[in-house]
Amino acid sequence: MTSTYETLLSRLQVAFDAVEPGADPVLRTSDRGDYQANGVMALAKRLGRVPREVADEIVSVAQLGDVADVEIAGPGFLNLTLRPSFLDEQLRTLALDPRLGIVAATSPKRVIIDYSAPNVAKEMHVGHLRSTVIGDALARMNCFAGNDVIARNHVGDWGTPFGMLIEHLLDLGEDQAAAALSIGDLDGFYKEARVKFDADDAFKERSRARVVALQSGDAETLRLWHILVNQSIAYFSEVYSKLDVTLKESDVVGESAYNEMLEGVVRDLDELGLLVESEGALCVFPPGFQNREGDPLPLIVRKSDDGFGYAASDLAALRDRVATLHGDELLYVVGAPQAQHLEMVFAVARLANWLPDTVRCEQVVFGNVLGPDHKMLKSRGGETVKLVRLVDEAIERAYVILDDRGTELDGDEKFHLAEQIARAAIKYADLSTERQHDYVFDLDRMIAFEGDTGPYLQYAHARLRSIFRRLGEAWEPGDAHFALEAKAERELALGLVALPEAFTSSLSSLQPHRLCTYLFDVAQRFTSFYDACPVLSAEGALREERLALCDLTARTLQLGLSVLGIEAPERM
Ligand code: ARG
Repeated sequence: MTSTYETLLSRLQVAFDAVEPGADPVLRTSDRGDYQANGVMALAKRLGRVPREVADEIVSVAQLGDVADVEIAGPGFLNLTLRPSFLDEQLRTLALDPRLGIVAATSPKRVIIDYSAPNVAKEMHVGHLRSTVIGDALARMNCFAGNDVIARNHVGDWGTPFGMLIEHLLDLGEDQAAAALSIGDLDGFYKEARVKFDADDAFKERSRARVVALQSGDAETLRLWHILVNQSIAYFSEVYSKLDVTLKESDVVGESAYNEMLEGVVRDLDELGLLVESEGALCVFPPGFQNREGDPLPLIVRKSDDGFGYAASDLAALRDRVATLHGDELLYVVGAPQAQHLEMVFAVARLANWLPDTVRCEQVVFGNVLGPDHKMLKSRGGETVKLVRLVDEAIERAYVILDDRGTELDGDEKFHLAEQIARAAIKYADLSTERQHDYVFDLDRMIAFEGDTGPYLQYAHARLRSIFRRLGEAWEPGDAHFALEAKAERELALGLVALPEAFTSSLSSLQPHRLCTYLFDVAQRFTSFYDACPVLSAEGALREERLALCDLTARTLQLGLSVLGIEAPERM
C-alpha cells in the first residue's frame, strides 16, 4: 500500500515538477493543517517569482481533491487537511495489513551488525548494555524491513590475559573452575588470577609461558582456553535471555576467529606498501589522523613483541564481512571511546581497497550510562555494575509496583510480567535517549507507568486489549469504518497513518529514539482519545468505529515495541 505521506507527496510532486522538475515540496506533518508543504518559498526564490502565485499554480495543478483540502497560508505555505473519506480509506487498508503499512524491501540488503561484544572471563557490565540493546533493536528493525541480518558478537576471547586465566583455572582444578564460572562470578575469577599474577613471580612466569603456548596453538592449552570461552558464552546467553535479546551462540564470532587471517592482513598491507615499522611495531598511518602534538597516529597491526593487536582482528573481520559475507552495510554498535580506533580501521580498509564505497560502514556510537551523580554509573563500592544486577533490581522494583497496583496475578505469571516490565523499562530508557547522548540510570523514572517510559507504552497497549476483553466477543477489523468526527479521534488517526515514515526514518538514520518518540506520541494521542471518547458505552456504528481505532492503535503499539525488542503484555 502507499502510505498517506507518500500519497500526498506524489500528488504534490507532480505539481512541483510542472513548475520546476525535481523541486522538493518539503512535506511534513504540521500542527496547522494535518500536513504542510513548505517548498514553495525556495522554489519561488529560485525562479524569481512571487511565492503566492507559485502556490496558486501548484494548487491548481495538484490533483488533491479526493485526498486533502489545501489552504495557502502566509507567504506560501500549503496547509493540507486530509479528507475524512481518504483518511478512513487509508486506515481501513492499514487495518487489513499485518505489516501496518511498512513495506518490506524489494531488494533486501545484507546488514552485518557488530554488537554486544563482551569479554570472555569478564562480567558483562553496564558498558555492554547500550551496545546490546541498540544492536538488538537495529537487528530486529532491519529484519522487519525485509533485510538480511547477520549478527556478529565480536567477543574479546584472545590476548595476553588468557595466560594467567588458564593457569588460574589449572590451580583451581578444571571442575572447580567451571563451577565457579558457571555461577556467573566471572569478575571474581578474573580478579583472583590478577592478584596472583601481581604477587607471585612463579605464577607470572607460568602465565607468560602459557600465552606463548596458546599463541602457538598447543592443543592442551587450547582445550583449557575452550573451557573458559564456553563457560563465558553460556553465561552471556543467560544474560541475553534475561534481557530478551535475540543474539544466539552461533552469532559469537570472537576476536580469535580471525587468528588465521591475521598473517594475510599483514602480508597484504605490506604488499600494498602501507606498512611502516615504528619502534619495532608494524603500523599503518592513515592520512588525516593526528595526536595532540600534530604527529601522525599509527594503527598498530603487529606489536613489537610480534603479537597482533586489537586492530588486526578488526581489519580481518571487516575484510571478511565484505569479501566473504558480502555485507552491503556494516554497522558497529560500539561506544564512543572507540570512535578513533574504528575510524582508523575503516580508513585503513579503504586504503587497502577492502572497503568499497558502495558498502555503508558506520560506527553506531552511543553515549554513557550515568549514575545519579551524573558520573559513570558505579556500584556503591565504586565498581562497575553487573548487567544482571541491573535487570534483577528492575524486576524487584516491578514486583513492588505490581503489588502496589493490586495485581491479581501471582506465581509464574506475576514473575513473567515483572520481567517484561523490567526489560521494557531498561530498554526503552536506553533506546528513547538520542543515542549519542548520555543518560542517567534512574530506575524510578524508567519504570514509572506515567511519562515517556516503556511501561507507560505497555500499559497503554494493555488498556486497549482490556477493552476487547470486556467486549466479550471476537472483533476483527473486517469492513469497519473509523471514527473521525471528534478532534481526539482524528488526532489519533493521524498518528496511526504515520507509522511507516516513523519506522523508515528511524531505521535509515540508525536512531531508534525516533520510533520511540513516535510510539510515545501515539500512546498520548490514545490517552486523550480515551479520556474524551467512550468506546464500549458508545452505541451502534460509532462503537464499531471507535473499536476500529482501538484495534489499530493496539497493533501499532505492539508492532512498534516488538521491532524495538520490547514486549507488549496483554494485561498489566
Ligand atoms: N570487546 C570490546 C569491549 O568490551 C568491544 C568490541 C567492539 N567491537 C569491535 N569490533 N571492536 O570493550
